[in-house]
Amino acid sequence: MNYRLSTLFGLGASAILTVLILVGSRNLQNFDSALFGYTVASVIAFGALIFRYALWLQRPATRTYWKRGWQIYLKREKFVQNTGIAAKTFAGNILAQSFILKRGFKRWLMHFLIMWGCIISAMITFPLVFGWVHFELEGDIGYRAYLFGFPLQLMQGRSITAWLTFHALDITAIMVLVGCGIAIHRRLHDRGAIALQQFLLDFVPHLMLIAISVSGLMLTASSLWFDGYMYHFIALTHQATVIMTLFYLPFGKLFHIVQRPASLGVELYRKRSPEMQQAECPRCRTEFSAQIWVDDLNKVIEKLGFDYTLPDGTKLQDHCPQCKRIMRGISYANLPDVNEPVFLGVRAEESKEEVQTKDNV
Ligand code: HEM
Ligand code: HEM
Repeated sequence: MNYRLSTLFGLGASAILTVLILVGSRNLQNFDSALFGYTVASVIAFGALIFRYALWLQRPATRTYWKRGWQIYLKREKFVQNTGIAAKTFAGNILAQSFILKRGFKRWLMHFLIMWGCIISAMITFPLVFGWVHFELEGDIGYRAYLFGFPLQLMQGRSITAWLTFHALDITAIMVLVGCGIAIHRRLHDRGAIALQQFLLDFVPHLMLIAISVSGLMLTASSLWFDGYMYHFIALTHQATVIMTLFYLPFGKLFHIVQRPASLGVELYRKRSPEMQQAECPRCRTEFSAQIWVDDLNKVIEKLGFDYTLPDGTKLQDHCPQCKRIMRGISYANLPDVNEPVFLGVRAEESKEEVQTKDNV
């Protein structure tokens, strides 16, 4: 792993965001100094996110499929068609999350509410915090929003648009709370989930999102119904929970937010592979996958330090899925003794000896 390169990418990303904040807020003219804490945390978290992403891209599997995805996408003669496939996959798998729908409607609803609640909140809060968007009172009843210092359309203070604009975060907070409620309910009742889940990985993200949403709603309640009672303290709590989540983002479960969209490249690779030269299974002689796909898999497995070479010199991954299953079955069926398992021709005792020899070396 090249930590130095990843660090440089991270620092570069933080520097670029800082410049964008300076430029977008018109040299801090539209920047609210009360939001300085949020800004510093966002700049650091963004750098950390890019650092982690750069590290992740160096992993053999990620690097291979990432590069291949771009290579296939940028092919000049198929560019328009590829853009169509990528846009369709993006709409179905990333925006609508249809692949989660296959696991059940409640799971889909849970994720849809959390994801869109968080995305819309981020689209509102980050530009406000960075001074890219600000509002000014105009006349007696109107507000005008400014984007990067440029005026947008005037909003009547009592219009539905203004109400939705100023309460958008309350709506997204409710979306996130309902989504997290469904997720926690499932995690407390689904036996499959109970068997596998871990507190840090599967509960902490929801608890953080709940803390942010509840403290946000308390801000609204404080200003609407309690004359701003404890507003400053609640604002600090909101800030603390947001900052903790921003710092957790690159190193915890929520990293999948930026990691998952890379599957677009793999999906394109899969869809394009029937047109490529096909690999033939050495056992049953059927064509089962693109040769380039099998070669990539072999390269990744080798880089990871695994070796699945069979006694006849071929590799396990050169075979089609059906033959792999049959070979595994035959291998189990030929076990001479249940106490002495053999996998792909290697006895457990032999492999133990091998490990011991390697350890001694
Ligand atoms: C702002 C964006 C997002 C947020 C806040 C978010 C948040 C979450 C959370 C909290 C969970 C855990 C749910 C549980 O308890 O099981 C989860 C699961 C998951 N997320 Fe995301 N996510 C986001 C974006 C994405 C994207 C873009 C993808 C992929 C395209 C994705 C794919 C998944 C999948 C596959 C699961 C497992 C769902 C299941 O158990 O069926 N997420 N996400
Ligand atoms: C799940 C994500 C989030 C939700 C659901 C959420 C929710 C809320 C809500 C409901 C409010 C009160 C709005 C009002 O008074 O009308 C609020 C205020 C605020 N939020 Fe968030 N928020 C989220 C994330 C963030 C993030 C990521 C930031 C910063 C980067 C942020 C910064 C703020 C700020 C600066 C305020 C105004 C508080 C003040 O007066 O000091 N929020 N939020």
